[in-house]
Amino acid sequence: MNAPSISLPFPADVPAGSPATGDATACLRVTGLTVQYRGFTALRDITIDIPEGEITALVGPSGCGKSSFLHSLNRLTDLVPGCRVTGSIHLADGTEVTHPKADVLTLRGRVGIVFQRPNPFPQSIRRNFEIPLREHGWSKEDIPDRMETVLRQVGLWNEVHDRLHKSAIALSGGQLQRLCIARALALEPAVILFDEPCSALDPLASGVVEDLIHSLRGQLTIVIVTHNLAQARRIADHAAVFWVRDGAGTMVEHGPAARVFSSPADPDAGLYLSGARG
Ligand SMILES: Nc1ncnc2c1ncn2[C@@H]1O[C@H](COP(=O)(O)OP(=O)(O)OP(=O)(O)O)[C@@H](O)[C@H]1O
Ligand SMILES: [Mg+2]
Repeated sequence: MNAPSISLPFPADVPAGSPATGDATACLRVTGLTVQYRGFTALRDITIDIPEGEITALVGPSGCGKSSFLHSLNRLTDLVPGCRVTGSIHLADGTEVTHPKADVLTLRGRVGIVFQRPNPFPQSIRRNFEIPLREHGWSKEDIPDRMETVLRQVGLWNEVHDRLHKSAIALSGGQLQRLCIARALALEPAVILFDEPCSALDPLASGVVEDLIHSLRGQLTIVIVTHNLAQARRIADHAAVFWVRDGAGTMVEHGPAARVFSSPADPDAGLYLSGARG
Protein backbone atom coordinates (compact mmCIF):
# COMPACT_ATOMS: atom_id res chain seq x y z
CA MET A 1 0.00 0.00 0.00
CA ASN A 2 0.98 3.65 -0.12
CA ALA A 3 4.07 4.73 1.77
CA PRO A 4 3.48 7.07 4.70
CA SER A 5 3.95 10.71 3.80
CA ILE A 6 6.47 11.44 6.52
CA SER A 7 9.73 9.56 6.44
CA LEU A 8 12.68 10.06 8.69
CA PRO A 9 15.72 7.83 8.91
CA PHE A 10 15.39 5.13 11.54
CA PRO A 11 17.25 4.01 13.50
CA ALA A 12 20.31 6.10 12.56
CA ASP A 13 18.90 9.53 13.45
CA VAL A 14 16.55 8.42 16.18
CA PRO A 15 17.88 8.08 19.71
CA ALA A 16 17.76 4.50 20.90
CA GLY A 17 15.27 3.67 23.60
CA SER A 18 15.81 0.82 25.97
CA PRO A 19 15.60 -2.35 23.92
CA ALA A 20 13.73 -5.14 25.65
CA THR A 21 16.37 -7.58 24.43
CA GLY A 22 19.87 -7.03 23.20
CA ASP A 23 19.51 -8.00 19.57
CA ALA A 24 15.83 -7.80 18.59
CA THR A 25 15.08 -5.29 15.84
CA ALA A 26 12.77 -2.53 16.99
CA CYS A 27 9.57 -2.04 15.05
CA LEU A 28 8.46 0.94 17.10
CA ARG A 29 10.75 3.31 18.93
CA VAL A 30 9.09 5.41 21.61
CA THR A 31 11.16 8.16 23.18
CA GLY A 32 10.14 10.44 26.04
CA LEU A 33 6.42 9.99 25.42
CA THR A 34 4.16 12.07 27.64
CA VAL A 35 0.36 12.18 27.33
CA GLN A 36 -1.71 14.91 28.93
CA TYR A 37 -5.46 15.49 29.08
CA ARG A 38 -6.21 19.19 29.54
CA GLY A 39 -3.04 19.59 31.57
CA PHE A 40 -3.44 16.39 33.60
CA THR A 41 -0.40 14.18 32.99
CA ALA A 42 -1.73 10.66 32.43
CA LEU A 43 1.57 9.24 31.22
CA ARG A 44 5.05 10.59 31.77
CA ASP A 45 8.26 10.12 29.82
CA ILE A 46 7.96 6.62 28.40
CA THR A 47 10.94 5.32 26.44
CA ILE A 48 10.81 1.83 24.98
CA ASP A 49 11.66 -0.09 21.82
CA ILE A 50 8.94 -2.50 20.73
CA PRO A 51 10.58 -5.51 19.04
CA GLU A 52 9.51 -6.49 15.56
CA GLY A 53 7.41 -9.59 14.96
CA GLU A 54 7.05 -10.34 18.66
CA ILE A 55 4.43 -9.87 21.35
CA THR A 56 4.83 -7.13 23.93
CA ALA A 57 2.36 -7.18 26.82
CA LEU A 58 1.56 -4.03 28.81
CA VAL A 59 0.25 -4.67 32.28
CA GLY A 60 -0.52 -2.58 35.34
CA PRO A 61 -3.43 -1.43 37.47
CA SER A 62 -6.38 0.54 36.19
CA GLY A 63 -5.66 4.16 35.33
CA CYS A 64 -1.88 3.86 34.93
CA GLY A 65 -1.97 4.94 31.29
CA LYS A 66 -1.83 1.70 29.30
CA SER A 67 -4.61 2.70 26.90
CA SER A 68 -3.23 6.23 26.61
CA PHE A 69 0.09 4.71 25.57
CA LEU A 70 -1.53 2.37 23.08
CA HIS A 71 -3.75 5.05 21.60
CA SER A 72 -0.83 7.41 21.06
CA LEU A 73 0.85 4.78 18.88
CA ASN A 74 -1.69 5.23 16.10
CA ARG A 75 -2.80 8.75 16.93
CA LEU A 76 -6.19 7.84 18.36
CA THR A 77 -5.26 10.44 20.95
CA ASP A 78 -5.96 13.03 18.21
CA LEU A 79 -9.64 12.28 18.68
CA VAL A 80 -9.65 13.34 22.34
CA PRO A 81 -10.20 17.10 22.74
CA GLY A 82 -7.55 18.63 24.97
CA CYS A 83 -5.18 15.68 24.67
CA ARG A 84 -1.53 16.62 24.13
CA VAL A 85 1.16 14.13 23.22
CA THR A 86 4.83 15.03 23.38
CA GLY A 87 7.97 13.01 22.77
CA SER A 88 8.48 10.91 19.68
CA ILE A 89 7.28 7.65 18.18
CA HIS A 90 8.90 6.19 15.08
CA LEU A 91 8.12 3.14 13.02
CA ALA A 92 11.08 1.19 11.66
CA ASP A 93 10.08 2.19 8.09
CA GLY A 94 10.84 5.79 9.04
CA THR A 95 7.28 6.96 9.72
CA GLU A 96 7.32 9.62 12.40
CA VAL A 97 3.99 8.89 14.08
CA THR A 98 3.98 12.06 16.13
CA HIS A 99 4.78 14.41 13.24
CA PRO A 100 1.94 16.94 12.87
CA LYS A 101 1.84 16.31 9.12
CA ALA A 102 1.93 12.51 9.33
CA ASP A 103 -0.67 10.86 7.09
CA VAL A 104 -2.93 9.56 9.84
CA LEU A 105 -5.11 7.39 7.57
CA THR A 106 -2.07 5.55 6.24
CA LEU A 107 -0.62 5.35 9.73
CA ARG A 108 -3.76 3.66 11.07
CA GLY A 109 -3.47 1.13 8.27
CA ARG A 110 0.13 0.41 9.30
CA VAL A 111 -0.75 0.36 13.00
CA GLY A 112 -4.16 -1.24 13.53
CA ILE A 113 -6.06 -1.51 16.78
CA VAL A 114 -8.54 -3.94 18.31
CA PHE A 115 -10.53 -2.89 21.36
CA GLN A 116 -12.02 -4.62 24.38
CA ARG A 117 -15.53 -4.40 22.93
CA PRO A 118 -15.73 -5.53 19.32
CA ASN A 119 -16.69 -2.55 17.18
CA PRO A 120 -18.00 -3.85 13.85
CA PHE A 121 -19.69 -1.45 11.47
CA PRO A 122 -23.44 -2.15 11.89
CA GLN A 123 -23.56 -3.38 8.32
CA SER A 124 -22.99 -6.63 6.49
CA ILE A 125 -19.92 -8.74 7.12
CA ARG A 126 -18.75 -7.97 3.58
CA ARG A 127 -19.12 -4.19 4.10
CA ASN A 128 -16.92 -4.45 7.18
CA PHE A 129 -14.08 -5.21 4.77
CA GLU A 130 -15.17 -3.12 1.80
CA ILE A 131 -15.35 0.11 3.80
CA PRO A 132 -11.78 0.15 5.18
CA LEU A 133 -10.18 -1.49 2.15
CA ARG A 134 -11.77 1.01 -0.26
CA GLU A 135 -10.77 3.85 2.06
CA HIS A 136 -7.19 2.60 1.90
CA GLY A 137 -7.16 2.47 -1.88
CA TRP A 138 -7.86 -1.19 -2.63
CA SER A 139 -9.67 -1.89 -5.89
CA LYS A 140 -13.14 -3.48 -5.68
CA GLU A 141 -11.94 -6.56 -7.57
CA ASP A 142 -9.23 -7.37 -5.00
CA ILE A 143 -11.47 -7.14 -1.96
CA PRO A 144 -13.21 -10.57 -2.03
CA ASP A 145 -9.89 -12.45 -2.08
CA ARG A 146 -8.43 -10.29 0.65
CA MET A 147 -11.54 -10.74 2.79
CA GLU A 148 -11.48 -14.52 2.36
CA THR A 149 -7.77 -14.70 3.18
CA VAL A 150 -8.10 -12.86 6.47
CA LEU A 151 -11.37 -14.54 7.45
CA ARG A 152 -9.57 -17.87 6.97
CA GLN A 153 -6.62 -16.56 8.97
CA VAL A 154 -8.86 -15.87 11.97
CA GLY A 155 -10.73 -19.16 11.54
CA LEU A 156 -14.02 -17.48 10.65
CA TRP A 157 -14.41 -18.29 6.96
CA ASN A 158 -16.23 -21.60 7.42
CA GLU A 159 -18.58 -20.00 9.92
CA VAL A 160 -19.56 -16.98 7.80
CA HIS A 161 -18.85 -17.66 4.11
CA ASP A 162 -22.55 -18.25 3.39
CA ARG A 163 -23.76 -15.15 5.26
CA LEU A 164 -21.38 -12.41 4.11
CA HIS A 165 -24.35 -10.29 3.08
CA LYS A 166 -25.89 -10.53 6.55
CA SER A 167 -25.40 -8.10 9.41
CA ALA A 168 -22.14 -8.46 11.29
CA ILE A 169 -23.78 -7.63 14.60
CA ALA A 170 -25.66 -10.94 14.57
CA LEU A 171 -22.36 -12.75 15.24
CA SER A 172 -21.40 -13.94 18.73
CA GLY A 173 -18.97 -11.88 20.84
CA GLY A 174 -16.04 -14.15 20.05
CA GLN A 175 -16.86 -14.20 16.35
CA LEU A 176 -17.17 -10.41 16.35
CA GLN A 177 -13.76 -10.02 17.96
CA ARG A 178 -12.24 -12.32 15.33
CA LEU A 179 -14.02 -10.29 12.64
CA CYS A 180 -12.48 -7.11 14.03
CA ILE A 181 -9.04 -8.75 14.05
CA ALA A 182 -9.58 -9.88 10.44
CA ARG A 183 -10.63 -6.35 9.51
CA ALA A 184 -7.43 -4.96 11.02
CA LEU A 185 -5.33 -7.66 9.30
CA ALA A 186 -6.95 -6.91 5.94
CA LEU A 187 -4.98 -3.66 5.68
CA GLU A 188 -1.67 -5.53 6.00
CA PRO A 189 -0.52 -3.69 9.11
CA ALA A 190 3.01 -3.81 10.49
CA VAL A 191 1.62 -3.60 14.03
CA ILE A 192 -1.66 -4.48 15.72
CA LEU A 193 -2.46 -2.96 19.09
CA PHE A 194 -4.83 -4.95 21.29
CA ASP A 195 -6.51 -3.13 24.18
CA GLU A 196 -7.81 -5.88 26.50
CA PRO A 197 -9.11 -7.90 23.54
CA CYS A 198 -10.40 -10.83 25.60
CA SER A 199 -11.84 -9.20 28.69
CA ALA A 200 -15.37 -8.91 27.31
CA LEU A 201 -15.43 -12.54 26.17
CA ASP A 202 -16.40 -15.78 27.90
CA PRO A 203 -13.47 -18.06 28.78
CA LEU A 204 -13.89 -20.27 25.73
CA ALA A 205 -14.05 -17.39 23.24
CA SER A 206 -11.22 -15.68 25.13
CA GLY A 207 -9.05 -18.75 24.62
CA VAL A 208 -9.81 -18.81 20.90
CA VAL A 209 -8.89 -15.13 20.51
CA GLU A 210 -5.75 -15.56 22.63
CA ASP A 211 -4.64 -18.49 20.45
CA LEU A 212 -5.32 -16.41 17.37
CA ILE A 213 -3.21 -13.52 18.67
CA HIS A 214 -0.43 -15.96 19.51
CA SER A 215 -0.63 -17.43 16.01
CA LEU A 216 0.08 -13.99 14.52
CA ARG A 217 3.44 -13.88 16.26
CA GLY A 218 6.21 -13.62 13.68
CA GLN A 219 3.89 -12.18 11.02
CA LEU A 220 3.56 -8.74 12.55
CA THR A 221 4.37 -6.83 15.71
CA ILE A 222 1.83 -7.12 18.51
CA VAL A 223 1.33 -4.87 21.53
CA ILE A 224 -1.33 -6.13 23.91
CA VAL A 225 -2.77 -4.56 27.05
CA THR A 226 -4.17 -7.19 29.35
CA HIS A 227 -5.31 -7.41 32.95
CA ASN A 228 -4.97 -11.16 32.68
CA LEU A 229 -1.46 -11.81 34.00
CA ALA A 230 -1.70 -15.52 33.19
CA GLN A 231 -2.48 -14.59 29.61
CA ALA A 232 0.46 -12.20 29.49
CA ARG A 233 2.75 -14.96 30.78
CA ARG A 234 1.43 -17.40 28.19
CA ILE A 235 1.82 -15.26 25.10
CA ALA A 236 4.25 -12.39 25.70
CA ASP A 237 7.87 -12.28 24.57
CA HIS A 238 8.33 -8.90 26.26
CA ALA A 239 6.50 -7.21 29.08
CA ALA A 240 6.20 -3.68 30.40
CA VAL A 241 4.68 -2.81 33.76
CA PHE A 242 2.99 0.57 34.12
CA TRP A 243 2.35 2.22 37.48
CA VAL A 244 1.21 5.59 38.81
CA ARG A 245 4.12 7.50 40.37
CA ASP A 246 3.88 11.10 41.58
CA GLY A 247 0.38 11.31 40.14
CA ALA A 248 1.24 10.17 36.60
CA GLY A 249 1.45 6.85 34.84
CA THR A 250 4.94 5.68 34.13
CA MET A 251 6.71 2.52 33.04
CA VAL A 252 8.45 1.01 36.04
CA GLU A 253 9.74 -2.19 34.48
CA HIS A 254 10.23 -3.67 31.04
CA GLY A 255 12.21 -6.36 29.32
CA PRO A 256 11.97 -10.00 28.27
CA ALA A 257 8.71 -11.38 29.66
CA ALA A 258 10.36 -14.36 31.37
CA ARG A 259 12.68 -12.02 33.28
CA VAL A 260 10.03 -9.42 34.12
CA PHE A 261 7.62 -12.04 35.44
CA SER A 262 10.19 -14.10 37.34
CA SER A 263 12.39 -11.40 38.88
CA PRO A 264 11.08 -7.85 38.48
CA ALA A 265 13.47 -5.24 39.84
CA ASP A 266 10.79 -2.72 40.76
CA PRO A 267 9.10 -3.48 44.12
CA ASP A 268 5.62 -2.30 43.02
CA ALA A 269 5.88 -4.33 39.83
CA GLY A 270 6.96 -7.33 41.90
CA LEU A 271 3.95 -7.07 44.23
CA TYR A 272 1.59 -6.51 41.31
CA LEU A 273 2.90 -9.44 39.29
CA SER A 274 2.80 -11.73 42.31
CA GLY A 275 -0.85 -10.86 42.81
CA ALA A 276 -0.19 -9.24 46.18
CA ARG A 277 -1.14 -5.74 44.96
CA GLY A 278 -3.10 -4.04 42.23
N1 LIG B 1 -10.23 11.26 27.57
C1 LIG B 1 -9.71 11.47 28.78
N2 LIG B 1 -9.88 12.65 29.39
C2 LIG B 1 -9.36 12.88 30.63
N3 LIG B 1 -8.63 11.98 31.31
C3 LIG B 1 -8.44 10.78 30.75
C4 LIG B 1 -8.96 10.47 29.45
N4 LIG B 1 -8.60 9.20 29.14
C5 LIG B 1 -7.90 8.75 30.19
N5 LIG B 1 -7.80 9.69 31.14
C6 LIG B 1 -7.10 9.57 32.43
O1 LIG B 1 -5.76 9.20 32.17
C7 LIG B 1 -5.31 8.23 33.11
C8 LIG B 1 -4.86 7.00 32.35
O2 LIG B 1 -6.01 6.43 31.73
P1 LIG B 1 -5.89 5.16 30.78
O3 LIG B 1 -7.27 4.88 30.26
O4 LIG B 1 -4.81 5.38 29.80
O5 LIG B 1 -5.45 4.03 31.83
P2 LIG B 1 -5.46 2.45 31.70
O6 LIG B 1 -4.19 1.98 32.30
O7 LIG B 1 -5.76 2.05 30.30
O8 LIG B 1 -6.68 2.03 32.64
P3 LIG B 1 -7.64 0.73 32.53
O9 LIG B 1 -6.81 -0.45 32.92
O10 LIG B 1 -8.73 1.02 33.53
O11 LIG B 1 -8.16 0.66 31.13
C9 LIG B 1 -6.48 7.98 34.07
O12 LIG B 1 -6.29 8.79 35.20
C10 LIG B 1 -7.68 8.43 33.27
O13 LIG B 1 -8.71 8.89 34.12
MG1 LIG C 1 -7.31 0.99 29.38
